[in-house]
Amino acid sequence: MKFNYIYSMAMNKTFFDNLITGIRHEYTAHPGQDFDPAVLQALMSERPKKANISQKKADSLEQLCSNVRQCDSCPLAKTRHNVVFGEGNVHAELMFIGEGPGNEEDMQGRPFVGEAGQLLTKMIQAMQFTREEVYIANIVKCRPPNNRVPSPDEIAACINYLKAQIQFIAPQVIVLLGATAVNALLGCNEGITRLRGKWLEFEGIKVMPTFHPAYLLRQKSAKRQVWEDLQQVMKVFDRVYRS
Ligand code: URA
Repeated sequence: MKFNYIYSMAMNKTFFDNLITGIRHEYTAHPGQDFDPAVLQALMSERPKKANISQKKADSLEQLCSNVRQCDSCPLAKTRHNVVFGEGNVHAELMFIGEGPGNEEDMQGRPFVGEAGQLLTKMIQAMQFTREEVYIANIVKCRPPNNRVPSPDEIAACINYLKAQIQFIAPQVIVLLGATAVNALLGCNEGITRLRGKWLEFEGIKVMPTFHPAYLLRQKSAKRQVWEDLQQVMKVFDRVYRS
C-alpha cells in the first residue's frame, strides 16, 4: 500500500515535471501565441513515455560517442585536436547536418561554434527553436586540414557513425547544410542550387537541403532562399502542433 502510494507520487512528479517543461518550451518557442489545447493534450499523453525512451537513447549515443572518440579509420584522425561528435537534444525533432568541423570546432570539440556556427544559431532561433532543442552534427567528425572538402574515402569511413546517430535521435526533419552533406547522406551527386528547397527523404525522415551557412557569409543574397527553405521546415512543426 505504502509502496503504491510512493510509486504513484513519483510517477506524478515525473509527469508534472515533464508537463511543466513542455509548457515552458511551448511558451519559449512560440512567444505571444495562444496555447493550443491540442498541444497540451499531446504533452499530457506523450511526455512520460518519451522520457523512458530518451534515457535509453542517451546511453546508446554516449557509447557511440566514445567509439568515435577512439576512431582512427581515416587519416583525419592523425591531424585532429578533437573529435567533433555532435551535440544537442538526444530526442530532438529537428536535426542539422553540416560537412565537417573547421578550426574552431576542432579546437573546442563542438560543432558549428565558429563564424558559420554563429549564423546557424541565428537561423535556428529565427525558426523559433533554440540550439539546445535541436541536434547538430556533421558528415565527418574530424577536421579536414585547411577546411578542404572531405574526400570520398574519409566520408565512407565516417558516414555510418552519422547514420547511427540519426537512428538514435530519430528526428522528424533533417536540414542538410550544403552539397557535401546532401550528397554524402543521400548518395547522390547534385549541386546544392538544384537540390535546395525541395523535400527529400532519408529512411522515412523528411530532409530539407539548403545552402551551408559558410556560403551565406560569402553570398549574403542567398539568405532569402535559405529563409524560404527553413520556413518550409517550420510549417511541418506547425502542422504537428495544431493538428
Ligand atoms: N562547418 C561545418 O560544416 N560544420 C561545422 O561544424 C562547422 C563549420
